Amino acid sequence: MGVSVVVTSGKGGVGKSTVALGMGRALAQKGRRVLLVDCDAGLRSLDRMTGAEENLVFDISDVVFGRCAPAEAIYPCGEGEGLFLLPAPSAGENMIRPAVMRKLVPLLKRYYDYVFLDSPAGVGGGFRSAACAADRALVVCSPDPVCVRNAVAAKELLIKLGIEDKRLVINRFNGPLFGATGAYNDLDGVIDAAGVRLFGVVPDDTLLAAAFLRGKRAPAASSAMKALCRMAGRLEGEAVPIPDTF
Ligand SMILES: Nc1ncnc2c1ncn2[C@@H]1O[C@H](COP(=O)(O)OP(=O)(O)OP(=O)(O)O)[C@@H](O)[C@H]1O
Ligand SMILES: [Mg+2]
Repeated sequence: MGVSVVVTSGKGGVGKSTVALGMGRALAQKGRRVLLVDCDAGLRSLDRMTGAEENLVFDISDVVFGRCAPAEAIYPCGEGEGLFLLPAPSAGENMIRPAVMRKLVPLLKRYYDYVFLDSPAGVGGGFRSAACAADRALVVCSPDPVCVRNAVAAKELLIKLGIEDKRLVINRFNGPLFGATGAYNDLDGVIDAAGVRLFGVVPDDTLLAAAFLRGKRAPAASSAMKALCRMAGRLEGEAVPIPDTF
C-alpha cells in the first residue's frame, strides 16, 4: 500500500506543482512507482510540466463521472520511468469532491508507492478535496511574510482535516533577497512563524524552472533538483541532512 502526499500552500504560485513533480521524478529515478494527481481543475499545469500533455485523452473528471476507468486516465511521463500522471480537467473548478477522493485515493495507493496530490491555490473546496485523503502533507511556502501567513492558514485546515504529518518546504530560497527583505533573521524565523517542522529548502533556480516549464527533466546541475532529490530521500525515511547553505 502506497503513501498519499498532498502538496499544498494556501498561496498560489509558490511552487506546489514544481515540488510535486521534482520529488516525483526523483522517487521514480529511485525505482518507485509514482503517481501525480493534478487536483487543480480548471487551472491544471502538470500535464504541460510533465511533457505528457499531447497524449492526454481522459482526465480525473472522466473517472469521477464514470466515463472511463481510473487506469485509462493515467498516463506515463516518459518511457519506462515509473512516473505517471492523472490529469485535471481544463475546466470545472471544484468539480472534484472530497467524497470522490476518499474513495479514489485509497484505490490508487494499491498500485503506486507514492500518490502526490497537487493542490490548487487557496484554502477552499479544491484544497479540501486534494487534502482529505492524504496520509501526509507538504506545505510549500517561499520565505516571505505573506506566503508564510498563507502557509499557516493551510496548516490550520490540515489540522482540521486530521492530517498529523505536516512538514514545511521553503521554496525559491534566494539568500541575497532573503537578507535584503529582512523580514526574518534566518530560516529558523520562517519555520517558527509557520509553526511547521522543516522538510527541506529548495533554492530559487532558473535551470529547474526553465526545464519544467518546457516539460523537460531538470539538468543534473540544477541546485533545486538536488534539493528535491534529498527531500525524496527523506520521504523514503533516509537520514539525509539539510545543508547549511543553499
Ligand atoms: N525553486 C524554484 N526556482 C525557480 N522558479 C521556481 C521554483 N519553484 C517554482 N518556480 C516557478 O514559479 C512558478 C510557479 O510554480 P508552480 O506552478 O510550481 O507553483 P504552484 O504553487 O503550483 O502554482 P499554482 O498555485 O498556480 O498551482 C513557475 O513559473 C515555476 O517555474
Ligand atoms: Mg500548481
